[in-house]
Amino acid sequence: MKIFLDTANIAEIKKGLEYGVIDGVTTNPSLIAREKREFIPLIKEITAIIPGPVSVEVTASTVKDMIAQAEEYAAIAANVIIKVPINLEGLQVVKTLTGRGIKTNVTLIFSVSQALLAAKAGASYISPFVGRVDDISGDGMQLVEDIAMVYDNYGLATEIIVASVRHPFHFVQAAKIGAAVATIPFATLSQLLSHPLTANGMERFLKDWEKVKT
Ligand code: E4P
Repeated sequence: MKIFLDTANIAEIKKGLEYGVIDGVTTNPSLIAREKREFIPLIKEITAIIPGPVSVEVTASTVKDMIAQAEEYAAIAANVIIKVPINLEGLQVVKTLTGRGIKTNVTLIFSVSQALLAAKAGASYISPFVGRVDDISGDGMQLVEDIAMVYDNYGLATEIIVASVRHPFHFVQAAKIGAAVATIPFATLSQLLSHPLTANGMERFLKDWEKVKT
């Protein structure tokens, strides 16, 4: 499973790269706003740091304006993936961009029917938001499992990015289902390694090592 960092923070992206396990980055308007920086220079910097895919979201509402934004963002770097919201206009945008060789990530996916239509329009990726489904007492990972089954039924090549990940268990479930990608906040990345028995084991080894040295 590929791991993307769900952030627009340069320090977090650099740290994640140093760990050697980050394959890409996803951003959204809220994550961008948090950085309080000019948009285009920030995206330029992120795409220069990360060799893998970097999702950048369009914010216009008409097909024409979304395509214009997408063309502008795609020209920033070869690894830009255009994030498009799932709606009728979004489907038309995805179809057009796919025809022009621009990769897309269809976002705000909350149902199997949305995921199926996004794939039919030619989406490279889709992003089901599992945490937000759980927030309203749904089962986000069941949604991912159902989408994976439907994609498998019809041999659809669109890759599933498990998004809105809130904790390590989402990450593990995503891997068990066989999702192509999990995009995770930086805080979750460090939580993935933490285990009390590892910490305890290290402490005991080091204590015993002190006895060898003396
Ligand atoms: C994914 O593409 C989104 O940027 C993100 O995962 C949304 O997460 P949130 O529900 O925690 O805002």
